[in-house]
Amino acid sequence: MNMIDIISKKRDGQALSQAEIQYWVDAMVADQVPDYQSSALLMAIYINGFNEQETSDLTLAMAHSGDVVDLSSIAGKIADKHSTGGVGDKTSLVLTPLVAACGGKVAKMSGKGLGHTGGTIDKLAAIPGFSTSLDSQRFIQQVNDINCAIIEQTANLVPADKILYALRDVTATVSAVPLIASSIMSKKLASGADTILLDVKYGDGAFMATKEAAIELAETMISIGNNNNRDTRAIISSMEQPLGYSIGNALEVKEAIDTLRDEGPEDLRELCVEAASIMLVQSKVHDDIESAKAHVEEVLASHQALEKFKEMIQAQDGDPSVVDFISKFPKSNLRSAVLAPQSGYIAKIHAQNLGMAAVALGAGRQVKDDPINYGVGIVLTVKVGDPINKDDALCIVYHDEPIEDAFLEQVMHDFEISDKPVAASPLIETILD
Ligand code: URA
Repeated sequence: MNMIDIISKKRDGQALSQAEIQYWVDAMVADQVPDYQSSALLMAIYINGFNEQETSDLTLAMAHSGDVVDLSSIAGKIADKHSTGGVGDKTSLVLTPLVAACGGKVAKMSGKGLGHTGGTIDKLAAIPGFSTSLDSQRFIQQVNDINCAIIEQTANLVPADKILYALRDVTATVSAVPLIASSIMSKKLASGADTILLDVKYGDGAFMATKEAAIELAETMISIGNNNNRDTRAIISSMEQPLGYSIGNALEVKEAIDTLRDEGPEDLRELCVEAASIMLVQSKVHDDIESAKAHVEEVLASHQALEKFKEMIQAQDGDPSVVDFISKFPKSNLRSAVLAPQSGYIAKIHAQNLGMAAVALGAGRQVKDDPINYGVGIVLTVKVGDPINKDDALCIVYHDEPIEDAFLEQVMHDFEISDKPVAASPLIETILD
């Protein structure tokens, strides 16, 4: 077997065998395939596609290319959730303690942010002292003790994805369904959970531009998960505007705390209640969504989920008093309001541009090792459909360095204002299982 034959076969539109896909992944991870050959194959896959079997074979070969986490010493079913990434998406911070407080088990491995979408690990790092690098023994013990833990993915989890993702990024081959599905699902399978809930987002701030593309991606991932004995379901949700109001690490943790106190934004609450209920059914803590939802509502109202978040912070070396004394979070020195240039109704909020603006303030990384400023970010004061008067604030920018008027003007243009009333589209488009 050799790479030239494999590339030629895919170039000519033929399906690759399991052995050929395995050969490529093994040789690539052993550093025996030059980048130009993997790139040529990626482009052939991008153009000619992969059938269901090939996508499944690639996912499994990638999942076994490095560490495979063994969570079998945790009693009960372990639930995992994955979002395809969005702006202001702090769902995991709410969901993890929420599901745990209802009796579900969540052993979550998350990543750092890159580009306009933030990462859960960076958000947690805004909590003073919080450690996301627990060894596997402590990780498992914590889930057995308090039902939840969130740690950073180990360095050797799916090394094939690290190589392929870096190549896809610079060869215009990121946005192919078989490549995205295998990238995400290989990491989920290697992370060891029994059930997987996918939040596949579509719209301006998301990977998939349209609902149809998000559904196609979700269906591909569901079939990979189910074929590998993981109960896999998906929520298709809109990223036509940021989720909640806050973008930026400490700002987002504070909004997650508000939500756990049952005083958070409506859209974030809706997504978390729905997702937690599905995860509890997947974990077999509840038989049906209605009883799961009633339990989730009760745990939110009684602040048991908030208490569980404090327990998780304490268990991971953080200072749980931040939950009650939010002044202990890192904060920026300066604030600037962005004002509406006219009266009307908010028609669109360009999530991706606002995500990039937050990165420019220091909330995220442009390149892998950039330092993060945990206090900076943007807090919206409006959502799509809201009425607005000229010179009312559209958002507040939290920053540490003086910013130029041109930056604020750019942010202002990320809010489109219509003369006529606008109806916001629903956050949750559909649920697939
Ligand atoms: N997230 C991933 O982990 N991989 C992709 O290819 C796209 C989004």
